[in-house]
Amino acid sequence: MPTTARAHTNIALVKYWGKRDPQLMLPQTDSLSLTLDRFFTDTTVTADRRLNHDRFTINGQAVDDKNTNRLTAFLDLVRQLAGTDTRFNVASTNHVPTSAGLASSASAFAALAAAASREAGCHLSRRELSRLARRGSGSATRSVYGGLVEWHRGTNDQTSFAEPLMEKVDFPLEMLAIVIDASQKKVSSRTGMQLCVETSPFYPEWRTIVESDMTNMKAAIANQDINRIGQLAQENALRMHALTLSADPGYTYFEEGTMRAMRLVDTLNANGLHCYYTMDAGPNVKLIYNSKDRQQIIDQLAPVFGKDKLIVAKPGPGVSITQL
Ligand code: DP6
Repeated sequence: MPTTARAHTNIALVKYWGKRDPQLMLPQTDSLSLTLDRFFTDTTVTADRRLNHDRFTINGQAVDDKNTNRLTAFLDLVRQLAGTDTRFNVASTNHVPTSAGLASSASAFAALAAAASREAGCHLSRRELSRLARRGSGSATRSVYGGLVEWHRGTNDQTSFAEPLMEKVDFPLEMLAIVIDASQKKVSSRTGMQLCVETSPFYPEWRTIVESDMTNMKAAIANQDINRIGQLAQENALRMHALTLSADPGYTYFEEGTMRAMRLVDTLNANGLHCYYTMDAGPNVKLIYNSKDRQQIIDQLAPVFGKDKLIVAKPGPGVSITQL
């Protein structure tokens, strides 16, 4: 019997950018994110005793060797948990508006963790699921939950998991993605963050900054203060990107369009239309704002970036499973 799970992607407001233990995928710092409704992955896993290796397709296409190895290593963890040696057939579909370049390992590994563990016969708690998803991709730890989510860095495999801060976001926090470039990122987050940990002279400072950002962000969320949430997220993102610039060799995910979007947002803010930006391991820009200002913001951005490059997303749900 196949098992299908759906998980939504998340965007970090306080970023995870570095591992302390790459094997166990323990992060250097805590992090905090918003799960989004618009971008999700559906994954169907079928145990098949006749297979002698796992098989993967994403959006109907067979997966290349490098990703097959990463996915098989992840399924080995599931087999270990379940005490089985069965191989799996895995079919994943990313639901991301056409070529938005926002497909994410967060929704992919959260959906795979949920579907594969259930298909293998395990009934994991959400905390156990979060720990399992972490082994696939750090950001997937948080996609197990909906809404605003905190990932505790922890000190070992048991204690590094995510928890919901507010699963149903009951204030008008919204995000808008500006698609600057939909192609594959040039430096993967995995490689990029490791280089920063090893070579950026600012890395020790980043650990301290994230601690205070976490405290301040949680206070802003408790106060439902969207402008403060946005301000803190923007500062945190800029500091994360300062790590990439200060690594050896230095690099950046920003492109011309990224800078143009940042400048425009600064101008809108100066003119009293409050919105803030955040960027991840790629050139696309995500804005944080109060949903009441959505139309005004779109009116300002559309002439510069094109209406079809703007994707509005609201807080979304955690992972869910459908036993067919
Ligand atoms: C910038 O979770 O993709 O989006 O753990 O190596 O798979 P791995 O990295 P990944 O990195 C996400 C980095 C980020 C910030 C964040 O989501 O917190």
